[in-house]
Amino acid sequence: MVKTVGKLGELAPGSIAAFEVEGKSVALANVGGALFAFDNVCTHRGCSLARGTLDGSVVTCPCHGSRFEVATGVVVAGPATVGLETYAVEVLGDGVQISLPTSSGEDGQARSAPNPSEASLSEAEPESTARVLAAVPLFSALDGASLDSLVAFTFRRTFQAGEVIVEEGSTGNGLYVVLSGQVEVIKGLGGPRPQQAAILSAGEPFGEMALLGDWKRSASIRALEPSVCLGMDRWVFLAHLQREPQLAVRLLQVLARRLAETNEKLIE
Ligand code: FES
Repeated sequence: MVKTVGKLGELAPGSIAAFEVEGKSVALANVGGALFAFDNVCTHRGCSLARGTLDGSVVTCPCHGSRFEVATGVVVAGPATVGLETYAVEVLGDGVQISLPTSSGEDGQARSAPNPSEASLSEAEPESTARVLAAVPLFSALDGASLDSLVAFTFRRTFQAGEVIVEEGSTGNGLYVVLSGQVEVIKGLGGPRPQQAAILSAGEPFGEMALLGDWKRSASIRALEPSVCLGMDRWVFLAHLQREPQLAVRLLQVLARRLAETNEKLIE
């Protein structure tokens, strides 16, 4: 279920609004220009989180003060002990869309925040998650400790066959790595002559550059079969870079090397 809930720019940075989507109350928060959608119902006793306060990427419930990270739904402070379900947000043109699971649970758009074992691979398989991240070219210059520091910011999401994960022309929220299944890269999806550009399998990333900026996606990505992806949101990643400048320097080295290689190819 995808619903357009408003236009880009209508929600001021640092504010939260609530929307009714498929009978469900969903909160949308603007964190420094990045949008995050999550259940508007506090998991403690059900108060509206849209009436709470947003401090950076953490929302505080107005009733008893539970605090949640809006990007991942993870509980930052109790009394709540269960995380929030979070949802995909896409910007298409100037429209803001929120994706919710269908009633049959077949879309897999929502992250599994309420289930801690699925909310973040960091909680279940930190070593394997670090290995997955190590295979992302953008992270190729990072040492083990740096990779480990990124694990906490990952989440896992399941997509059903035929589900569009990324839409060409929209701005994505960040990086994905295929953990299982297969996805296809398609140019011109929805047009008269869509073309499959590539098929990505386990271990292959997409949306690397979306970690660094909100550029429009150059192609759509669609699941060919039920597929599980590891994800990382841009806002969370950039906030981490600000705290860890050495990490940012290593990423710059990778980007500089890529630029040099591209220049060499152009000269040849
Ligand atoms: S209802 Fe949110 S903290 Fe109690």
